[in-house]
Amino acid sequence: MKKTTVLLCSVFLVTAIMLPAQQSPSPAYTDAYNKLMQRTEWWRNDRFGMFIHFGAYAVAARGEWVKSNEKLTTEQYQKYVDAFNPADFDAAAWARTAKSAGMKYAVLTAKHHDGFCMFDSKLTDYKLSRQFDGRDLVREFLDAFRAEGLKVGLYYSIIDWHHPDYPNVGNHPQREDDEYGKRKFNWDNYLKYMHGQVEELVRDYGKLDIMWFDYSFDEYSGDKWKAKELVDLVHKYQPGILLDNRLEVNQGTVTEGRTISRFGDFETPEQGIPDEGLLDKYGNPIPWETCLTLNNNWGYYESDKNWKSPELIVHALVNCVSKNGNLLLNVGPDARGRIPAESVRILKDVGRWMDNNGESIYGCGASTFVKPDWGRYTQKGNNLYAHWMYPTVGHINIKGMGDKAGHVTLLSSGAELPSETGWWGNSGQGNFFVNIGSPTYMTFQLPDPYDTVIKIVTK
Ligand code: GLC
Repeated sequence: MKKTTVLLCSVFLVTAIMLPAQQSPSPAYTDAYNKLMQRTEWWRNDRFGMFIHFGAYAVAARGEWVKSNEKLTTEQYQKYVDAFNPADFDAAAWARTAKSAGMKYAVLTAKHHDGFCMFDSKLTDYKLSRQFDGRDLVREFLDAFRAEGLKVGLYYSIIDWHHPDYPNVGNHPQREDDEYGKRKFNWDNYLKYMHGQVEELVRDYGKLDIMWFDYSFDEYSGDKWKAKELVDLVHKYQPGILLDNRLEVNQGTVTEGRTISRFGDFETPEQGIPDEGLLDKYGNPIPWETCLTLNNNWGYYESDKNWKSPELIVHALVNCVSKNGNLLLNVGPDARGRIPAESVRILKDVGRWMDNNGESIYGCGASTFVKPDWGRYTQKGNNLYAHWMYPTVGHINIKGMGDKAGHVTLLSSGAELPSETGWWGNSGQGNFFVNIGSPTYMTFQLPDPYDTVIKIVTK
């Protein structure tokens, strides 16, 4: 054989071995996939939500993991519970903050890992309503957010660092306490309690749009939680609800051989945005949502001043949408019940951008155009949104657009923008150059320093 033939054969072989065999999905899978895409349609349109981590840990002001991180006993933790009286809690103010940031839904911690209930559960006394004039904070949250026209969801921790039948496994605060480990833990009893509380939430609080379970680890996953029964229970009361995937996974997503989740409707990458949109193993895009903190913590943390800039948040949101994903952005109210002023300020700036550019977010997803150097694309049908995020010298090139472009405008004002298909002799080749101002080849300060959006209606 000639050298080149051998080379070609081996390239072919190596490629064939490296490429995953592209199976095709069964009809049942396709049916389940189509139903999933239908049920998640509103959520994939809305794209931007608020996560709220609020609980007695706000008093310690060292994040929602303080009990575990500092290995506190329930007795030691009690001083925070006793002091927790969020007198300035104003659900309507929270709802306005979310809405004016351009968020369309919100998810509140009904119970976090510490086990302290923010709702008036009949199954425990370990709850805020006992010391808060009987007020049910979760109900107030739901009413206020619904009144602002926002969709509502509840976060519920399937882990419980307080319940006597929950063993000291995983990151339990008493994980190193051998005496504690000798106690008898009745797992069925815990499951009964946990399922019972979920039933209270889905039965007694009106229509919920999202239920956000957190989280699985090691063998504490899926069947261990009786996930199938739990999901059936949820659906019995809330047929249209969306569930996250953490009855089965840890903080994120399955990486190999991904299919749509058995127990949930969307993947939950945490504190990071995937390099590419998430696909199932057949190549279909599947719903996902990055959850992200505004500083470095979910629960209120007094000394954490590591705030992300509004610009970074806008970029993160656009990044998610450009890959068919959502962003669930967190706030951690303080012990008095107020969203930190710094968070409110950031959200206000994000809201200003959303007012001008929300059209390039809602109902949008990945583009058929390849990501450019100067930013990202989002797309909705024939509308391409070019997100010009980084100042450039000269024009930006919407490579591949060529003569397919119709009307070109600056989204924030609707003003027509100068464009041309040829520049520097680069005619044809699918080039389409856009700039702002006059003369058009000059470098200009971008009108919006976070992200200047150019809308191109394609023919
Ligand atoms: C993690 C943490 C938790 C936080 C959650 C948000 O699983 O345990 O504190 O609520 O992620 O995604």
